[in-house]
Amino acid sequence: MKNLFDGNGQETPLEDRLKADIDQAGGPVDLDADCPGAIGYTMFDVPGSEDQTLTILLPESNLNKAPSQSLHRILSIDKRQYLAMVTAGPFAEPDTLRGDASVMVSSLARGARFRPPFHGRVRANILGEELNNGTLVPPRLRPLPHSPVVPLTEAEAAAVLKATGDMRLGVAYGFESIVVGVPSDRKDVLPRHLAVLGTTGGGKSTTIAGLVQQAQKAGIAVVLLDVEGEYARLHQPTSNQAMLAALADRRLEPEGLSKDRMTLFHLVGRESANPDHPRLHSFSLQFGRISPYAAMEISNLTEAQEQRFLKAYDIAKDMLRELGVFPSRGDAEEERFAAELDEFERGYPRLTLRFLRDVVEGIIRAGEKEEKADSSFRIHSAEMKRAGAKEAFQRRLPAKIDSLPSWRALAGKLGRLDRLGVFDADNAPPMKYKSLLQAGAVSVIDLSDSGMSELNSIVIADVLTGIQAAQDEAYSAYEAARKRGEAAAIPRTLIVIEEAHEFLSEDRIDKMRILFQQVAKIAKRGRKRWLGLVFVTQLPQHLPRQVLGLVNSFILHKISDPQVVASLRKTVSGIDEGLWSRLPGLAPGQAIASFPHMARPVLVAIDAARSELRMLD
Ligand SMILES: Nc1ncnc2c1ncn2[C@@H]1O[C@H](COP(=O)(O)OP(=O)(O)OP(=O)(O)O)[C@@H](O)[C@H]1O
Ligand SMILES: [Mg+2]
Repeated sequence: MKNLFDGNGQETPLEDRLKADIDQAGGPVDLDADCPGAIGYTMFDVPGSEDQTLTILLPESNLNKAPSQSLHRILSIDKRQYLAMVTAGPFAEPDTLRGDASVMVSSLARGARFRPPFHGRVRANILGEELNNGTLVPPRLRPLPHSPVVPLTEAEAAAVLKATGDMRLGVAYGFESIVVGVPSDRKDVLPRHLAVLGTTGGGKSTTIAGLVQQAQKAGIAVVLLDVEGEYARLHQPTSNQAMLAALADRRLEPEGLSKDRMTLFHLVGRESANPDHPRLHSFSLQFGRISPYAAMEISNLTEAQEQRFLKAYDIAKDMLRELGVFPSRGDAEEERFAAELDEFERGYPRLTLRFLRDVVEGIIRAGEKEEKADSSFRIHSAEMKRAGAKEAFQRRLPAKIDSLPSWRALAGKLGRLDRLGVFDADNAPPMKYKSLLQAGAVSVIDLSDSGMSELNSIVIADVLTGIQAAQDEAYSAYEAARKRGEAAAIPRTLIVIEEAHEFLSEDRIDKMRILFQQVAKIAKRGRKRWLGLVFVTQLPQHLPRQVLGLVNSFILHKISDPQVVASLRKTVSGIDEGLWSRLPGLAPGQAIASFPHMARPVLVAIDAARSELRMLD
């Protein structure tokens, strides 16, 4: 030990004395000598220790080597090996005192610079025991205390996380080079549906813009239901300064969607958010494609009106058949279609809203005159003008027309629906869903000017059923080709529903049972036929639990509402405590990604959008 006083009777500085003591004891402990690369050691368990978690102690110099979410190998002294992920810390604790000991608190509060030696402590989750052949299995034992802890290299960490895929999302938080992505070709990932959730400004649309671009590159057909018109400029490279800077950071280039494969659609009679888009099309809806039951829900009919609606619908169908409008006479294919039609899924082909109104109005006239419809009955629809139509109608008139007020109320509601001007319009063609399903085609359906959520619901219902039917057909064709031994690519389709809570809200689900059942059916069938749904919303609490129950992948941006977090915790499995606790504090563009292909959920710094998003602040 160095003398307290030097030769001149002066006190030796404390530091010198300590150093001398350390030298005498053989210098600082060399962790590496014990186990090359070790940054710390596991601590003894304490009464509060829990399964799956353990505490790692680190010397001061290694404090920054175990950041949150980093992965480590624990070489247990019983020769077993474990992998663990840091879920809390690193915390710095003084070696011999508690950090909140009175002497520490009072001296620091008075500005004393005395900083005792300290060490780091992290809590880690045990991911599994690593067997000799490299497989990871659920552990039956725990790492023993005093076992060295060695960080995984980025390559090793990437192999453990299994978070890669050709559709790039971003970079794993806390790693430099681990790219997180979604495999575009796995049937158990995208076709099992995705939810992108987070508060306003969390980065959902940016994530979607990236996902859509990557999907296009992977040859997936994308249909994007764009409620706010945010995506009307995706064909242009981004010009947003913040995005450009964030892209440059990752050495990514701004880039619009492939121009000749992005189409912007808007409803007939409604504006588009981007009238200058090079491939802009207006479209109308076919009343005959909508399930009569969905149409009743959307028109908000009373029970009495519903009965009359169905009565009129039956008359209209019968007439179309008799007149040879549908099925056309002698057309076996159409005959079969009409016979197999499931009216909970779609309506009767060629049955226009105008024609249905003519039928309802004809019945009212007949009731008013207490006689069969006469010449004062004004005809609007082409179907009613056909030869023989009037006779066909009269033959089907109910013998007694009761409750005229209900019929009139129904006529009023159908009139209102028709005045939206979107059904069976002459000046815009209906959507040809088959053409949207080409590999790499992106179709943005701009609903920004629709002005009412009912109209959005109608469009979304039409798109969902239309795409599903087209996808079914494409998939069957693919399977048939494969059976014949021909080379064929799997047709893959994604439907993105922005502001999904507006379409599928919990408080509307009772009123919108048919629509919801259609979504559920599409979701179930989509799994087999490669049709993936992506629900995007800032109000996941408004989505019915059944919807989230259909979803296997999640991208969770910042969510501050503790109640929402609490209910999500019941739905999304596998996210550890440490990650959940970060959710309210995530920065824009950060997200927890939980996908079936990943070994565990990862915190991702999502790439900035390469293409232009409208309404970026
Ligand atoms: N991945 C990212 N990289 C860089 N900046 C981002 C990223 N994601 C989001 N941001 C920033 O956050 C802002 C809001 O993002 P975005 O519009 O995607 O959020 P949102 O969740 O869709 O919001 P809203 O609910 O209002 O539609 C962007 O304008 C951008 O500045
Ligand atoms: Mg958005």
